[in-house]
Amino acid sequence: MRIGILTSGGDCPGINATIRGVGKTAIMHYGMEVIGIHSGFKGILYKDVEPFTERSLSGILNLGGTILGTSRDKPFRKKLTANEDNVREELLKAYNELGLDCVVCIGGNGTMKTANVISEMGMNVIAVPKTIDNDIWGTDITFGFDTAVNIATEAIDRLHSTASSHKRVMVIEVMGHHAGWIALHAGMAGGGDVILVPELGYNIDDVNDFILLRAARKKPYSIVVVAEGIETPEGKKPAEYIAKMIKKSTGIDTRETVLGHIQRGGNPSPFDRILSTRLGSHATELISKGDFGKMVCVKGSQISSIPLKDVANKLKLIEPGNDLIEYGKQMGICFGHLENI
Ligand code: F6P
Repeated sequence: MRIGILTSGGDCPGINATIRGVGKTAIMHYGMEVIGIHSGFKGILYKDVEPFTERSLSGILNLGGTILGTSRDKPFRKKLTANEDNVREELLKAYNELGLDCVVCIGGNGTMKTANVISEMGMNVIAVPKTIDNDIWGTDITFGFDTAVNIATEAIDRLHSTASSHKRVMVIEVMGHHAGWIALHAGMAGGGDVILVPELGYNIDDVNDFILLRAARKKPYSIVVVAEGIETPEGKKPAEYIAKMIKKSTGIDTRETVLGHIQRGGNPSPFDRILSTRLGSHATELISKGDFGKMVCVKGSQISSIPLKDVANKLKLIEPGNDLIEYGKQMGICFGHLENI
């Protein structure tokens, strides 16, 4: 068999460990031929590929980013070729000309949608979910999330000492456009006092009252963790807006920090390396069985798979009753509303 591997969407720690897991298992255990496809789906169209050997896949386990390069281009939405109308035919033709028996698509929600389309077009596809946001439906966890939570938690830890020394409010914005998983986990792990996630909304007056209440309880500093996707008035940046509102209403000196792409760059944590390796190896096992059109996933402590068509166009958001939120509320953490305080 000859298989291709591509990476698409935003990068995240653990992609190279996944490429290695897929590729080494394919070459060493199944005797497959493996090629790397550069820059996402357009790499198929432009036949921008390189052969992988066991040797070329060495030394990448702990490397951040993706050795294949990535792109957010959506082949069915954005004009990638001169002949836009025939993009489906062109993709299929290029896939056949490359002599591929399967393409492994490593990516986030956008990638899952595209992977499902090309699978329905007749290509053999196996998808591997990746995103620091942990918002892919059908898997309990995505690789990259643990690394991002580690980085965000360390940042919150560091803000604690300076916040308490100056008796300030520190607002920290972490990634998570639709889902607040990083804010929730890093916020809880870092001992955040207020955690705001897009799924729950917030009442800024309640947040301000909560901070004043803390001050009255001889806690003159507060850590506020916000996900980048929380709602703000038109054009207002989350951390900046929340910090401004807190300062204006409470009179407490307030600073904001936006963690940004620091959360996405650099080496994967050991947990993410293991997860990537397990998912990658399982992807190759599915290929060897001809079990295509699937996304590998985590269910409890097991690696499993689900049909790609069940995943495409869905998001895994924090649901009401999430246990971490419930426990947090019982401990007096504010999730944007004063109902529990
Ligand atoms: O997809 C993960 C993510 O990190 C989101 O949390 C964030 O909104 C987005 O990527 C940022 O993407 P870009 O690097 O394209 O600005």
